Amino acid sequence: MAVAGRDIVGSGAVEQSPGSWCEGLRLFGLLTIGLVAMALVILASAGWDTDGYRMVIRATARTSLTLFLSAFLATALLRLRPSAPTRWLHRNRRHLGLAFAVSHGVHLAAIITLATTDPTIFWTLASAASIIIGGAGYLVIALLVATSFDRISTWLGARHWQQVTTVGAWFIWSLFVLINGIRIPRNGWYLVPVAILVASLVVRVKTRKVPTNVAHAALN
Ligand code: HEM
Repeated sequence: MAVAGRDIVGSGAVEQSPGSWCEGLRLFGLLTIGLVAMALVILASAGWDTDGYRMVIRATARTSLTLFLSAFLATALLRLRPSAPTRWLHRNRRHLGLAFAVSHGVHLAAIITLATTDPTIFWTLASAASIIIGGAGYLVIALLVATSFDRISTWLGARHWQQVTTVGAWFIWSLFVLINGIRIPRNGWYLVPVAILVASLVVRVKTRKVPTNVAHAALN
């Protein structure tokens, strides 16, 4: 999540977004509309019932992972391969991170709806432990969103801001590994998101020493 002119790896200033419709706040707005529309289309076709709510939970878990990884990997990918798409990703990492929070907001709304309309099914899918762990995830997401605001990041100071956002991002990364990982025995396809998450770790670690401005320079 890139916030307040820096990002989770502290690689320097977020460059100004050009005025394109697919940048910055407009990108965030489009993604938000897309996420809400996706949930409504699922509910309209699968039904406003347990099956529909479960489909929304699963769909938003996947959109959340995609958006999270886009923000999480933006700087590393620019360092690895400077190009127009990685520059776009890097420029928009802050709004992609915020769209991840919106996606997980829809996940939470569907969870609450399922828990209130069909508690029996809800408790076969969730447990006290999963609520504590998932709840901690939501607190961290709220913290990362809060650090997006200039006033809070200034109050924290650059060093603390960096520590909070880095630890928070890796905590969310671990949650995705855990929640997908525990589903592997039931369905081998969950190996795919886990493998992608492990690959993202490798990319982050391999590129951590490359200064972002070198990647920028290579492009210019
Ligand atoms: C109190 C918090 C949370 C609760 C109660 C919760 C509940 C659930 C439930 C019930 C499902 C299964 C839906 C189904 O199979 O029909 C699910 C799926 C999932 N959740 Fe959440 N969740 C929470 C927070 C989170 C967080 C913080 C993350 C990640 C950062 C997350 C990621 C996922 C993933 C990856 C799946 C699997 C989706 C799939 O099958 O592809 N959840 N969640």
